[in-house]
Amino acid sequence: MTTPDLSPGFLHATRTSYDAMAPAYVDFARGELAAKPLERALLSTFAELVATGGGGLPVADVGCGTGRVTEHLYGLGRGLDVFGIDLSPQMVAVARQEHPGLRFEEGSMLALDLPDASLGGLLAWYSTIHVPDEELPRAFAEFHRVLAPGGYVQLGFQVGDEPLRLTEAWGLDVSLVFHRRQPERIAELLRDAGLEVVSRVWRERETDGPFPERAPQGFVLARRPIVSGGCEDGDISATD
Ligand SMILES: C[S@@+](CC[C@H](N)C(=O)[O-])C[C@H]1O[C@@H](n2cnc3c(N)ncnc32)[C@H](O)[C@@H]1O
Repeated sequence: MTTPDLSPGFLHATRTSYDAMAPAYVDFARGELAAKPLERALLSTFAELVATGGGGLPVADVGCGTGRVTEHLYGLGRGLDVFGIDLSPQMVAVARQEHPGLRFEEGSMLALDLPDASLGGLLAWYSTIHVPDEELPRAFAEFHRVLAPGGYVQLGFQVGDEPLRLTEAWGLDVSLVFHRRQPERIAELLRDAGLEVVSRVWRERETDGPFPERAPQGFVLARRPIVSGGCEDGDISATD
């Protein structure tokens, strides 16, 4: 993989922040999925759909962080050829250390170093949250490009209308923006990128338990339409 182009300032700030947080993040997130049955159900659904409709192509966990969800997908036993990509070299280093049997690479979702139509599935689990509104269409165009027809993309994100800005996390200096969004808006942008939306899920924020949250959570599943007669389903010319 090539080193990501960090020219937009937010990419540099996000990368530097996660580099600093990598050792603490792995402990912070340990056990989180075990405490979240809805998330596990959504990931299982994604894995099943990819296993049956993804043509045996690889699955990328884009913005994989420490690789905990990459490992979870692999461990579901559906035979997925899953690998992780992350902007932060330190997160990638931790992921490789924690999950030595899986592949992790440095990269940015804004310019994925992957061939066209090469993936059966793409997971963006709380990673598009660091992409500003004006850059999100570029990320979704990349998702559409790298997914094979019939391939699925699953997103997870915090729901809201105002971003959360953090300058400190776990006693570390960071510069992070968490872009909260409405599932309807994410769905609209995915459709604009040529993807068809399969489901939108919204759930209340958890206020107690081991992982209290600041916001409700959203999950959108979409897929790249299957090509029929040289045009993608949903393309106007395909239905004429
Ligand atoms: C909140 S963490 C989530 C990590 C992981 N998906 C999880 O659920 O544990 C966000 C991750 O997205 C990565 N990230 C942010 N912007 C990215 C980009 N443009 N391309 C790839 N990864 C990105 C960060 O480096 C960080 O590891």
